[in-house]
Amino acid sequence: MKTIVLGISGGIAAYKSAQLTSELIKKGYDVEVIMTQNATQFISPLTFETLTKHPVLTHTFQSIHPESVEHIRIAKRADVFVIVPATANCIAKIAHGLADDMLSTTFLAAQCPKIICPAMNTAMYQNPITQHNLQLCASYGIQIIKPQQGLLACGDNGEGKLADIDHILQHIEAACTPSLLDGLSIMISAGPTQEAFDPVRFLSNPSSGKMGYALAKVAQQLGAKVTLVSGPVQLPPPINVLLKQVKSAQEMFDTIKQHYKDQDIIIKAAAVSDYRPTTIHDEKIKKTEDKLSLTLVKNPDILAYLGEHKLPHQILCGFAMESEDLLTNAKEKMIRKNCDMLVANHLKMEGAGFQGDTNIASILQGEKIESFEKMTKEELAHIILHKLYTLYKGKEEKSIC
Ligand code: CTP
Repeated sequence: MKTIVLGISGGIAAYKSAQLTSELIKKGYDVEVIMTQNATQFISPLTFETLTKHPVLTHTFQSIHPESVEHIRIAKRADVFVIVPATANCIAKIAHGLADDMLSTTFLAAQCPKIICPAMNTAMYQNPITQHNLQLCASYGIQIIKPQQGLLACGDNGEGKLADIDHILQHIEAACTPSLLDGLSIMISAGPTQEAFDPVRFLSNPSSGKMGYALAKVAQQLGAKVTLVSGPVQLPPPINVLLKQVKSAQEMFDTIKQHYKDQDIIIKAAAVSDYRPTTIHDEKIKKTEDKLSLTLVKNPDILAYLGEHKLPHQILCGFAMESEDLLTNAKEKMIRKNCDMLVANHLKMEGAGFQGDTNIASILQGEKIESFEKMTKEELAHIILHKLYTLYKGKEEKSIC
């Protein structure tokens, strides 16, 4: 049984930690709770004692097991340490290594994966000092689950509302399994393709590659052997990933055909140009005419090819970006291309689509559709990879039976 240490600092969102605790217990985790003095003003320790069946720690020198030093005992027990909510004060303490209460002391002593979920007034959250402290925390490897926009308890409407409990839960689960993808080979395609028609001009699209690169980074962190087939992008390659750079859809197709048989999971996040010019002129086209016509020919559909040639153990995940009838079109694509899963996002939604750091996605698997709130592409990558892993394991178990 994995142990989650749940730290609660003193913000109004503290009451939401009770629901999180309950969900964690239902999922079979052992939960130990540490509350700051201020947190106890918002919700009683008794709530958490009742849910977790453990005493709640609120004081640095509270001695529940006199044979051991309490904060070290808890820090060692933790498989994941999560602070929900993390106030500006709590974040500042963590960022600078302060240890002046039970929560900050135990957090400093813990060596497991750590997650903090900020929740506070918008001005406090957006204050450069808080932002700098969050960056510091991130630089120490602490995962930060960004707050949402919304109506805050103080009456303001803006950024600072605690992330969705379900969303936090998914991150805790992902962090509990840091080597989830150990031994698996995953190929990810990312970015746009460029379809040249003379030496200096091409047809393309505005894909930044951020979603595919986030998937590659997270898959690598989770232990997978990653092959990243990337169209031209302006992003640094993720570490420890086999990067194959391509330009055109045909080059992407050729590279993927070379490697796909060695993969357990394939994710096609690339925005492949559907058509290419029939002719690539050897020399730069001169603007002698008033009108220029290009004849285009269809590119190979790489995802459809992979669906058709899927090996029995493989899991295939496509993406779909639509400007209308999102779910109907996405479902049709998933079936037509024989995908096990499809991530759909709406081109016209603010916070989704090309270029940005966030996405608003729906994930389709068979008849099941799950829609998610806006989140960073890295957060979405965690969720996608978790689901693909579950599908992969399911297939593996079926084949053994
Ligand atoms: N895709 C592909 N090869 C293509 C076109 C698309 O592998 N030539 C993949 C994309 O990487 C994505 C999925 O197919 O995973 C859906 O891409 P999308 O552009 O949304 O769909 P299309 O099949 O191109 O259909 P349409 O443009 O008509 O919506």
